[in-house]
Amino acid sequence: MILNEPAYPSKVYLNGEILDAENAQISVFDRGFIFGDGIYEVMARINGRFFYKEAHLDRLRWCLEQIRIPADIMAMESAIPSLLEASDLIGKDCLLYMQVSRGTAPRQHSYPRGIDPTVMMYAWSKTLPDINDVPASVITRDDFRWSRCDIKSTSLLGNVMANEYAMENNCYETIFIRDGIVTEASHCNVFFVKDRIIYTHPTGPYILDGITRQVVLELCGKLDLEVCEEGISADEIQNMDEAFLTGTSTQIMAIKEIDNHNLFIQKSNPITRQLQQAFLDLKNRT
Ligand code: PDD
Repeated sequence: MILNEPAYPSKVYLNGEILDAENAQISVFDRGFIFGDGIYEVMARINGRFFYKEAHLDRLRWCLEQIRIPADIMAMESAIPSLLEASDLIGKDCLLYMQVSRGTAPRQHSYPRGIDPTVMMYAWSKTLPDINDVPASVITRDDFRWSRCDIKSTSLLGNVMANEYAMENNCYETIFIRDGIVTEASHCNVFFVKDRIIYTHPTGPYILDGITRQVVLELCGKLDLEVCEEGISADEIQNMDEAFLTGTSTQIMAIKEIDNHNLFIQKSNPITRQLQQAFLDLKNRT
């Protein structure tokens, strides 16, 4: 599988300053480093605007509240234009990474009081395709992660291990199965289609409430597609007509095979295509 080589960004926003990336330094005692005690966000700038920015910032705020990290989201938001300018990204499409860790303190598990969070952001040029028309091969694996997958935590070891497993098996993604039910994938949400009904795991502690997921559900409403927020059991996968992944950089990606089986009856993925087209129209409108 050929992947784009990730590159370092030239500039980084760190605690109120925009710095050359090589000069951006944090303490080795930062709890983000020691414990993965932090929250992150990724959003895409498409046609000159961040796509569903408010939804991404709301999720960031909510996740920080869940783990009681105080952070000034408005200050982060207002620093974005300067970061883009310094990064030579004005007028360009890009992805933005935002991270807030609890901050630096001598190691102890419970939350230390009275420390400042470490706030970091960077952006890099990325033009997403109009429609992601490369269908994915995916592999399944037991969902061995924790039970607060709704928190967009920087502690991503389970997701990292699962994505590595996908790469080793020449797949784009690993789909997690928890107690026999498909939850989500290592960095995407998962949808199935059966008899024109759209199925996806309900929100709650076992999945991240993806912004692209939310957008797709909105589009289903507009397209008069019935939605059932219900997990599909691993045994039912083979009876599905179509399946697709959603995520900020993945957008909407059809799944062509699962565990090396070419399962889906509708090879041309008509509903997935309809949603991809509606998603493109939305990007062009917003
Ligand atoms: N991944 N599920 C998981 C576990 C994710 O990490 C992501 C996002 C999603 C999709 O969420 P959204 O549609 O809001 O991007 C679902 C991001 C992009 C990442 O880790 O890079």
